[in-house]
Amino acid sequence: MGDTVKKGVFISFEGIEGSGKTIQALLLYEFLHKKGYTVVLTEEPGGTQIGLKIRELLLSVEHQEMTPVSELMLYNASRAQLIKEVIRPAIKKGAIVITDRFNDSTVAYQGYGRGIDLNLIDSIDRIVTAGLKPDITILLDLDVEVGMERNRGIHKADRLELEDRVFHKKVRNGYLEIAAKEPERIKLIDASKSIEEIHGKIVNIVSDLFLKI
Ligand code: TMP
Repeated sequence: MGDTVKKGVFISFEGIEGSGKTIQALLLYEFLHKKGYTVVLTEEPGGTQIGLKIRELLLSVEHQEMTPVSELMLYNASRAQLIKEVIRPAIKKGAIVITDRFNDSTVAYQGYGRGIDLNLIDSIDRIVTAGLKPDITILLDLDVEVGMERNRGIHKADRLELEDRVFHKKVRNGYLEIAAKEPERIKLIDASKSIEEIHGKIVNIVSDLFLKI
C-alpha cells in the first residue's frame, strides 16, 4: 500500500445487526492511521451534534409509535448533517473517511425491511447525498440468527434490534440484492469468519482500491 492518497477516499461499512461492522471499521481505521494516513471514522445515525440527538430519537425503545416515514426522514436528516459537517469537508482535505453505515442501510432497512417504496427512498437520497457515494462499501454478510445471537451475548437491544427475525431477514436479503446490483462498489464478505481473517480481506480490498485512485 502506498503512503499517499491523492484525493479523499470514502469507505462505508454495512451489514445486519451483529455482523461485526463496527469492530471492522475500527480495525481499518487503526490500520490506516498507523500507516500515516489522515483518517476520519464516523457512524450513522450520529457523527454530529444533531445526528446524535436524532440517533437517540430513532433508537430509543420508548418510541414504538414511530412511523416508517418518520424513521426514513430522521435517518436522512442525520445523514444530511453528517455529509455537510464531516464527510464532504474531510474528503475535500484528502482524508480517508470511514463510516459505520451510510445510505445502503436506508435502502435495506426502510426499503426492504419496512417496505417503503424504493423509488421514494431514492428520490430523498438524491436530495440528501447530492450524488455522494462511497468509493467502496464493505458488506459483512451473516446469517440473521447468528447475528441476533451475537448481539444477545452483549445485551445490545435498541428499537430496531428488537424487530423480529422476519424483519432482519428482509434486511439481509435487501443488502444482498443491493450488492448484486453494484458488484464494483459493494464488496461482499462472509462475516461468520474470524475477526482477523475478515480484517485481512478488508485490507486487501482497500489496497486494491488505493491502486486505482
Ligand atoms: P447501529 O446499531 O449499527 O449503530 O445502527 C443503528 C440502527 O439503525 C441499526 O438497527 C440499523 C438502523 N438504520 C436504519 O434502519 N436505517 C439507516 O439508514 C441507518 C443508517 C441505520
